Amino acid sequence: MFALTTDGHYVPSVSQVDAGSLQRLVRAIRDLAAARDVADIVEIVRHAARELVGADGATFVLRDGDQCYYVDEDAIEPLWAGMRFPLESCISGWAMNHHQAVFLPDIYVDDRIPHAAYRPTFVKSLAMTPVRTTDPVAAIGTYWADEHVTTPAEAEVLQALADSTAVALERAQVLHHLEEVVAERTQEIAASNADLAAFAQVVAHDLKTPLTTIALYAEMVATLDGPVLSEEGAGALETMGQMIVRMGGLVDAVLSYSTAATEVTTSGKADFNVLARQLLEDLDGLVQERHALVEVDDLPVAHGSPALLARVLQNLVQNAIQYGDPEKPVVRVSGRTSRTSVSITVSDNGPGVAPEERSRIFDMLARGSAAAGSAGSGIGLAFARRVAARHGGTLTVDDGPDGGARFTLTLPRRESADDLASYIER
Ligand SMILES: Nc1ncnc2c1ncn2[C@@H]1O[C@H](COP(=O)(O)OP(=O)(O)O)[C@@H](O)[C@H]1O
Ligand SMILES: [Mg+2]
Repeated sequence: MFALTTDGHYVPSVSQVDAGSLQRLVRAIRDLAAARDVADIVEIVRHAARELVGADGATFVLRDGDQCYYVDEDAIEPLWAGMRFPLESCISGWAMNHHQAVFLPDIYVDDRIPHAAYRPTFVKSLAMTPVRTTDPVAAIGTYWADEHVTTPAEAEVLQALADSTAVALERAQVLHHLEEVVAERTQEIAASNADLAAFAQVVAHDLKTPLTTIALYAEMVATLDGPVLSEEGAGALETMGQMIVRMGGLVDAVLSYSTAATEVTTSGKADFNVLARQLLEDLDGLVQERHALVEVDDLPVAHGSPALLARVLQNLVQNAIQYGDPEKPVVRVSGRTSRTSVSITVSDNGPGVAPEERSRIFDMLARGSAAAGSAGSGIGLAFARRVAARHGGTLTVDDGPDGGARFTLTLPRRESADDLASYIER
């Protein structure tokens, strides 16, 4: 049924693999497919190799430059775990160098074997299977205490294990590389975000200091010379005061935009019902002044930073009041939860956003046609979209049910790590 050649390897032949080995092989292949690193792979292979062929021991050998590194083993008595030998002087090195499996029923009659290294061990027979035929990077050794003639079925099972090991090793290498790249990029991005935020803080501080002084002097002029100022002079002073307030607001807006990227974490729970309630309290003055009606439905809870998401909601509702119907703004805040996402919509009864403006209004400092004649910085939506992106979500605008604008914030529903682990189990 098979032929053993003089240098100790089989020529291919038809063979029969018993159901038990097949099952064990399937399990090993499945485990290897889930292995993330070399340590996982070694752990799986050393046990699987021994059990698959009923050997008394198995070793996992890695090629390490011009050495064979016996990484770990599973055996009735210690073999060479943790030791390194020159490729030239061990049989695993021979198997890797020759891209060939070796089967030796009696190791002591083969001169490729360093007998001295084997004498202290129980080993009498072995099978050494290289991992990856084209350019072997490892080898799987299996050992018997008595003379053992490896059957073709055993040889095939070991080869199948070696092939899966090769795939797993390559995958682990790719994963390792990817993890390194991702870690590097994350660090770069974090560093540049931090730089930017620090820069914004300095600029904001440097702008605000003279602004405070200007405000102080304007007030002094008003107090000292108010009574003697001409009507025009008094008007100019008042405009100056408004501009100072506006500039202060702009500086704050720039600052808040930069913090959207650096707020340390977006992990947390944001109950939009709570956020909306607080917001309505804060906006009470504006609501009264504009005779606005803000209707809030039952809202979902999302994963994310409550502080950042509160400011997103604030920007959207404030805009809806500001750009809603000038006589009586009506704003509706609703929510939806699907299997994969949570969304919040804010719609109003204003003129809406023209299709050609729908992407531009999310740019930094961009103001649209609805804003003509009203005060604002053009930062609110840029900030809101940035926060959405940081949560892995989106912010878009379309026509609302009553013709006004409808902004939709969509956030992914992140399962907890435990849930993910149980998916993998299934
Ligand atoms: N609810 C809305 N209806 C119509 N236009 C809107 C609405 N919300 C925002 N916009 C448009 O988007 C622009 C950018 O908004 P935003 O970034 O909040 O800046 P700002 O409100 O300071 O102008 C606004 O100038 C306005 O033209
Ligand atoms: Mg705004």
